[in-house]
Amino acid sequence: MKRPDHPVWHQLQAHAQRCLQQLDLRQALQATGRFARLSLQAPHVRLDCSKGLWDEAVLHDLLQLAQAAELPQRRAALLAGQMVNPTEGRPALHAALRAPFAPVAPHGLQHPVARCPDVEAGMHTMLALAEQLRTQGRFTDVLHLGIGGSSLGPELALQALQPWCQGGPRVQVVSNMDGHDLHQALQGLVPARTLVVVASKSWTTAETQRNMASVLAWLQADPAVHWPDHCVAITARPAAALQAGFVQVLPLPEGVGGRFSVWSAVGLPLALAAGRAVFERFLAGAATMDAHFAQTPLARNAPVWLGLLDVWYSSFLQWSGRCVVPYHHGLRRLPAYLQQLEMESNGKQVHADGSPVAHPTAGMVWGEPGSNAQHAFFQWLHQGTQRIPVDFIAARKAAHALPGHQDALLANALAQAQALMQGGQVQPGQLPGHQHFPGNRPSTFMLLDELTPESLGALLALHEHRVFVAGTVWGINSFDQWGVELGKNLATDLLGRMASGDAAGLDTSTAGLLGWCLGA
Ligand code: F6P
Repeated sequence: MKRPDHPVWHQLQAHAQRCLQQLDLRQALQATGRFARLSLQAPHVRLDCSKGLWDEAVLHDLLQLAQAAELPQRRAALLAGQMVNPTEGRPALHAALRAPFAPVAPHGLQHPVARCPDVEAGMHTMLALAEQLRTQGRFTDVLHLGIGGSSLGPELALQALQPWCQGGPRVQVVSNMDGHDLHQALQGLVPARTLVVVASKSWTTAETQRNMASVLAWLQADPAVHWPDHCVAITARPAAALQAGFVQVLPLPEGVGGRFSVWSAVGLPLALAAGRAVFERFLAGAATMDAHFAQTPLARNAPVWLGLLDVWYSSFLQWSGRCVVPYHHGLRRLPAYLQQLEMESNGKQVHADGSPVAHPTAGMVWGEPGSNAQHAFFQWLHQGTQRIPVDFIAARKAAHALPGHQDALLANALAQAQALMQGGQVQPGQLPGHQHFPGNRPSTFMLLDELTPESLGALLALHEHRVFVAGTVWGINSFDQWGVELGKNLATDLLGRMASGDAAGLDTSTAGLLGWCLGA
């Protein structure tokens, strides 16, 4: 499909003009039926898109666009484990990690996600190791080293499932090459009681290699410690880890991308802290979302709606991003997790075949937890000159019993979505311009019943599939990330120059900055 030339693309452009000029959400939401028609129940997640700046005519044409982009066929290829990442010649097997825990398929139906024994075996080895280490009780602390997809998922899951992490070791995650991060984490740790997990798919990432070298030196400084007994490597390059002296090495399949890897051996910190049963519940929750994505008609399919809304807002309404505001302390790292998942997947300027795209693809994803965010950037969301959609994510029930907090939190989430949509004047007659809220600002609301291993799994799988849907409609490869390479290469060059002081051939700004860093 040639996107901007396709007739349905033109229809959607006409809808965009109409919606921007005429669609008034206040009026639209006075009519009964819009909420019922533009909201749905997916596994563990209720989704309200009725405050979106769209309507059923837009959804209808977006679904046509999805059909023209062969979304059903590409979804089937993804879930069957076919090669969907052409620039790296790989499948994308994150759903296969969850397949063993999928809900039983209705009689006569095959489960839509292909089982992949190799991929499952690695995950089961990890779970067995986690149980063994938990039972031994030898380690009071775990230091997880990794960055990007090798840390964001475990970090988020550990925070989100903290109530399930009783009785396991204390886990800290260190990512940054900034030594302040590691220095702080090491305070109070005792080598003899610490397990170090090094997660790096490539086994070349500079941050993780540097942190690993420092931590190995720290372990080796204790003569009573045989460091390989205190370390686990998780990598798709097991030979490199073995060569570095690691004995416990968990394989990471090539077909599982870093930002999709929390379900794999990379999830070891969660399995250590919370135990195998909780980890399996997390996988099972994701598997229910896989089944929903695979089997529900596109017109009532949660990841399809969200992916199509992303395409609509970015490519047709030309909005530059999306704000993510989780109203749950356990989800405070969700904006960072989604930043990598979405921006690394769909921040692309060429189609999967290398030809340039002629329309905006993914915008920026950013956010902070509510209600804190209300006292930071909500001013901009309500009264700034730019309009971007907001995703509100909340859980109906809290995991604490403090009276009053949860109702107040939920009331604030609802109120912010309402205020963005409704607008108005805060104190009629006073300071008309300053106190005026324009309204008609769209949002999406995702409500979990409770933050549990299952609902967290479903929420993350929902977003993975959302990213795939948008990428498919845009015709891009959501599974590679070439855009991170140039900076890595230049950093290697500059590290050499930090030692030599040689600025030859550099642009004048970088040469000047190098001089500053060297104390000039
Ligand atoms: O920054 C790019 C990236 O390659 C991410 O895609 C990845 O999640 C992260 O670095 C860490 O990579 P690795 O697991 O290979 O250390």
